Amino acid sequence: MDDLKAKYLAQISDASDEAALEDIRIAALGKKGEISLQMRELGKMTPEERQVAGPALNALKDEVNSALIAKKAGLADAALNERLKTEWLDVTLPGRGRAAGTIHPISQVTQEVSAIFADLGFSVAEGPQIEDDWHNFDALNIPSHHPARGEMDTFYMHRDEGDNRPPHVLRTHTSPVQIRSMLEKGAPLRIICPGRVYRADYDQTHTPMFHQVEGLAIDTDISMANLKWVLEEFVKAFFEVDGVELRFRASHFPFTEPSAEVDIRCSWDNGQLKVGEGDDWLEILGSGMVHPKVLEAGGIDPAKWQGFAFGMGIDRIAMLKYGIPDLRAFFDSDLRWLRNYGFSALDQPDLASGLSR
Ligand code: DAH
Repeated sequence: MDDLKAKYLAQISDASDEAALEDIRIAALGKKGEISLQMRELGKMTPEERQVAGPALNALKDEVNSALIAKKAGLADAALNERLKTEWLDVTLPGRGRAAGTIHPISQVTQEVSAIFADLGFSVAEGPQIEDDWHNFDALNIPSHHPARGEMDTFYMHRDEGDNRPPHVLRTHTSPVQIRSMLEKGAPLRIICPGRVYRADYDQTHTPMFHQVEGLAIDTDISMANLKWVLEEFVKAFFEVDGVELRFRASHFPFTEPSAEVDIRCSWDNGQLKVGEGDDWLEILGSGMVHPKVLEAGGIDPAKWQGFAFGMGIDRIAMLKYGIPDLRAFFDSDLRWLRNYGFSALDQPDLASGLSR
């Protein structure tokens, strides 16, 4: 029995794969295996002999069995280790190339603007692109006879004869989202509303669909000074410069009083824009203190609350920041253009790691 034990344990220890182990198991413990045959011999023994040989054979069988199981597990472990070695991967290596698709500059800039204003405590609000004329005009203090209605080159939705639902338009600006947000959330309020807007116009700097971002802050102690600081912080962060100079030019919008257009100091060197220095001024947005009638239309008491608002062209600031000369190219879906001006899909703009790199 000692010989049998030594022989099988040695074979098991030398086995190099599962198939070899199985052969050993059959040779030792299979129906006609050496140990099984010995066990059959027990019947022929005297009871005294059997009392000694029986437990010894059983112990031998158990020992060989355990050795087989242990070796099988060991082989499986070794196989797994071998596989893990070949499948090893250095996750700290830089990625190869870049994803085939790119983030459109409009999406990129929208995310940059949202990240900056989020940092200043503004949340993002949205409204419908097909808007009724009350939200798009009347509630913003643009009554139907107002010349601004004509100036906006509005797209009106078709209405059948006898259809007396309120007229709908493709929103001409993001300002109606001011009204919707005031009605929905009340005061105090701090929102931006980026989105598509529509006007019937087409040339190098105008497309029938373009993008704006609206800003609105309402509280009990808001002034033009707050507006100026917020815009300065925005322009510095957006153009990624340390300092800027803003100029407020008196202007007129029906929904703000007073109203101002805002220019930033800049220079143009060989067609290359530099923000923050130079002798030129660049208009970037319209703004003002929210008109009391607009607050009222939004269900907010103008005796208690004031606010500032601004509206800015996203396409325009994208063209300025990234040196894109023709607005129309944004919407041509030309793959060569998208590859050139698009952004990596793996980089999310945020203030901590940098907006545009
Ligand atoms: N809605 C204006 C436009 O489309 C832009 C604008 C100007 C928005 C002044 C404002 C604002 O909120 O205060 O031309």
